[in-house]
Amino acid sequence: MKFTSLIFFVLFLFFAFSDPVPPTWPEIYHVDLLFSLPYANIHIPVSTDYDNTTNNERIIYYSGLTLDYYLTVDNYEIWTTQTNQTCYKNPEPHAVNQTLVGMFPDLSTWTYIGVGVARGFKCNVWEYIYQPPGYNKTNVYHFYVDFNTNSPVQYHMLGYDIVFGSHFDEYVMDYYSYIPNQVNPNAFVLPAICNNASSHPEHKFGRNSLHFKKLTPLKSSNSETLFDLFKSKYSKNYPNEKEQQERQEIFYNNYRYINEFNQEHTDMTLGVNHFADMTIEEFRSVMLMPKGMLQRKVNHKIEEYEPRIPTSSLPTNLNWTELGAVSPVKDQAFCGSCWAFSTVGVIEGQYYLATGNFKQFSEQNVIDCSWNATHPSYGCDGSSQEFAYEALMGMGGIEFEDDYPYLSVTGYCGYTPEKRAASLLTYYTIPNSEEAVIEALNTIGPLAISYDADHESMMFYSGGVYHEPTCSTTNLDHAVLLVGYGNYPGTEEPYWLVKNSWSTHWGYYGYFLIARKDNMCGITTDVTFPVLERNFAL
Ligand SMILES: *[C@@H]1O[C@H](CO)[C@@H](O)[C@H](O)[C@H]1NC(C)=O
Ligand SMILES: *[C@@H]1O[C@H](CO)[C@@H](O)[C@H](O)[C@H]1NC(C)=O
Ligand SMILES: *[C@@H]1O[C@H](CO)[C@@H](O)[C@H](O)[C@H]1NC(C)=O
Ligand SMILES: *[C@@H]1O[C@H](CO)[C@@H](O)[C@H](O)[C@H]1NC(C)=O
Ligand SMILES: *[C@@H]1O[C@H](CO)[C@@H](O)[C@H](O)[C@H]1NC(C)=O
Ligand SMILES: *[C@@H]1O[C@H](CO)[C@@H](O)[C@H](O)[C@H]1NC(C)=O
Ligand SMILES: *[C@@H]1O[C@H](CO)[C@@H](O)[C@H](O)[C@H]1NC(C)=O
Repeated sequence: MKFTSLIFFVLFLFFAFSDPVPPTWPEIYHVDLLFSLPYANIHIPVSTDYDNTTNNERIIYYSGLTLDYYLTVDNYEIWTTQTNQTCYKNPEPHAVNQTLVGMFPDLSTWTYIGVGVARGFKCNVWEYIYQPPGYNKTNVYHFYVDFNTNSPVQYHMLGYDIVFGSHFDEYVMDYYSYIPNQVNPNAFVLPAICNNASSHPEHKFGRNSLHFKKLTPLKSSNSETLFDLFKSKYSKNYPNEKEQQERQEIFYNNYRYINEFNQEHTDMTLGVNHFADMTIEEFRSVMLMPKGMLQRKVNHKIEEYEPRIPTSSLPTNLNWTELGAVSPVKDQAFCGSCWAFSTVGVIEGQYYLATGNFKQFSEQNVIDCSWNATHPSYGCDGSSQEFAYEALMGMGGIEFEDDYPYLSVTGYCGYTPEKRAASLLTYYTIPNSEEAVIEALNTIGPLAISYDADHESMMFYSGGVYHEPTCSTTNLDHAVLLVGYGNYPGTEEPYWLVKNSWSTHWGYYGYFLIARKDNMCGITTDVTFPVLERNFAL
């Protein structure tokens, strides 16, 4: 072999057998993707045009059910409302320093692990393993890049529990039609519907893009802090150092609050959860209803339930979850749809008790179809169970979850009478007393309720019997499902057993116990249930 051939051969070996370089992402791109939270059964199709050089981005969810415009000057959001679309202007333009929502992680510190297959494509695979010192469990991230075209194919994240609980997370992004250095030419042209757009006091801008904040792993560091563990556990990512600093400060403030609280209280426990980098104001604005919304009344009289069985002949405890009348804990995600989960929870119980057959019903059907000029609803910005019952009665029925799955954004009303699973005849309110509510829980089933959740103690509740001395019995902001009552083992303290819709990360596997005393936080203030027609589609 001549010397020059040898050099070429060595170069050949070098290029053939050295690891591929991880892709870097351009400042301008178009990408379509499917974002999935398999455990919550949420699959969101997303289409993005991203231009970091001009500070413009458009994100389309579900082919146009929701559109977010982050523009150089102002930010807008288009929402679907039953049959219409409405454009809202973000009252707080982030124009100057806004951070666009990126769809790819920074792979520069990831490890190449070889060739693999994702969605049938031969891919180069990069891996990022996050293993906190002293723990066996890890978070594992994989990024698949097409072997031939170098286009992104899939981003997969498995997060195991480390310190804070017993949960497990999985996020998947499947990328389709990635076009680097190019955006759709009309992407940043605002549609006419936004010409006169104004902000709406009850509209929370950019709920959907909050999902993407979970996706990028932190960089490795030798000295792990509690905040690092928190970020790893909940896959938190912050767009820049400034935000990271702010979130860290909020996290430690919350952590301090949780610790001090736990030292001062023996009857209930708080814990770090996925809300720990949020202030109470942010928690309120994303997860709770504006005050008063749950208590907006329909303009006609609602029948009041009359309890018949005397309290003395009722059992001392009841747990409808144990009795099979309650679905697994669901996750409303960043949609203000607690009212729809509460409504569906009570319908699921009624259906089960009437048919002996447990089926899950559709929250999305309720969210999409409760818009009605006489009975206002704001979809993911909130409504109430009463408006939901009214809308379902007007529409003639509700579908099963399987036929009308949860999206976590507001959509067009797609109710089809052929898929009717149950219909509502009427609904009742229950008198505001512990005795009446206990009687109704026993004779009717799980009940739809609302309460005052606007407290850090509720944000971080993780076990024991909840008390909040500053709770209101009348100013309610969160809707849930009352599923039982009892007396706490050891202290014999009376409690209500309540199912929430903030995933199993929150509370006691998604549930909480609250003191059954003096109408704590308004638990018995706004209790309702619907009556189903006996004409089920089984
Ligand atoms: C976007 O632009 C800003 C400001 O020019 C820059 O600091 C940032 O690194 C860019 N981000 C990406 C992902 O290119
Ligand atoms: C649809 O839009 C029209 C005109 O903007 C409005 O009058 C009507 O109330 C809207 N309907 C719903 C269900 O929002
Ligand atoms: C934008 O960021 C720069 C640099 O961080 C800062 O000096 C400036 O005050 C920011 N402008 C606004 C309007 O926040
Ligand atoms: C890690 O795994 C080893 C071997 O399976 C076990 O002995 C050890 O207790 C585990 N450590 C922790 C912190 O779970
Ligand atoms: C937009 O607002 C202006 C001024 O309030 C009004 O004259 C005009 O009719 C509005 N256009 C539409 C399409 O609503
Ligand atoms: C209610 O029943 C469920 C299912 O059996 C059980 O996991 C839960 O611990 C029970 N809750 C209470 C407070 O008894
Ligand atoms: C609104 O709901 C009420 C109660 O169900 C119903 O009577 C009415 O027809 C509905 N209006 C519209 C415009 O759908």
